[in-house]
Amino acid sequence: MDSVLLNIQQLNSCYGVIQVLHQVNVSVQQGEIVTLIGANGAGKSTLLMTVCGDPKATAGKVYFAGQDITALPTHEIIHAGIAHVPEGRRIFARMTVLENLAMGCLQPQHHKTQLAQVFDLFPRLAERQEQLGGTLSGGEQQMLAIARALMSRPRLLLLDEPSLGLAPLMVKQIFQVIEYINKQGISIFLVEQNACHALRLAHRAYVMVNGRIHLSGTGQALSQNPDIQRAYLGL
Ligand SMILES: Nc1ncnc2c1ncn2[C@@H]1O[C@H](COP(=O)(O)OP(=O)(O)O)[C@@H](O)[C@H]1O
Ligand SMILES: [Mg+2]
Repeated sequence: MDSVLLNIQQLNSCYGVIQVLHQVNVSVQQGEIVTLIGANGAGKSTLLMTVCGDPKATAGKVYFAGQDITALPTHEIIHAGIAHVPEGRRIFARMTVLENLAMGCLQPQHHKTQLAQVFDLFPRLAERQEQLGGTLSGGEQQMLAIARALMSRPRLLLLDEPSLGLAPLMVKQIFQVIEYINKQGISIFLVEQNACHALRLAHRAYVMVNGRIHLSGTGQALSQNPDIQRAYLGL
């Protein structure tokens, strides 16, 4: 686990004239689960979106597997091997589960094998293939969003608050799924407000405050840090 897969260097990002990210440095090694925690509005989603090229970085670099992807259009970034599960899932409500999954597939020759793999991972989706996305429960929609991202056979999965708004049992399942996906060799960059769960899962973690990386360390070290416990773990 010592080859850098994602390397974000001195990244700035803006909405119009408002700068949100300030000199952000983050890396994800091959095989790691890296978590980013931080308060609402800190800039976590903006970081994932900037990695995907929308909005474009205004300064700094993003390297993926050694390639400079900073200026690439989003579809080329996805083709390079990054899949993004945005906050709020954004599945296609009026398409079936099967149609949603087909939208995530980049190479038709892999469609069948990928479908079999995601149905293996999410038997609930297999049972509901013909059901419209919008009729699924929140947890099932989150599973569908993750499954759709996996259809592109990514090397790196960017997950934006996958546990948000889900019942405790479903939260537990989602975190188990993330761990399982990672064991299959997919690196994970996970944004979470559920810091307790997320830090337990993470090999390493970063804390973002007002668009800057404030702290980093192993998941365990951060979960034992008194400042982190007070601010994010409610201890
Ligand atoms: N599309 C947008 N246009 C303008 N400002 C935005 C937009 N999206 C987010 N912001 C602002 O950028 C900041 C960071 O937001 P965001 O990245 O969503 O934070 P987080 O994901 O950590 O909650 C916030 O102040 C937010 O209001
Ligand atoms: Mg967010």
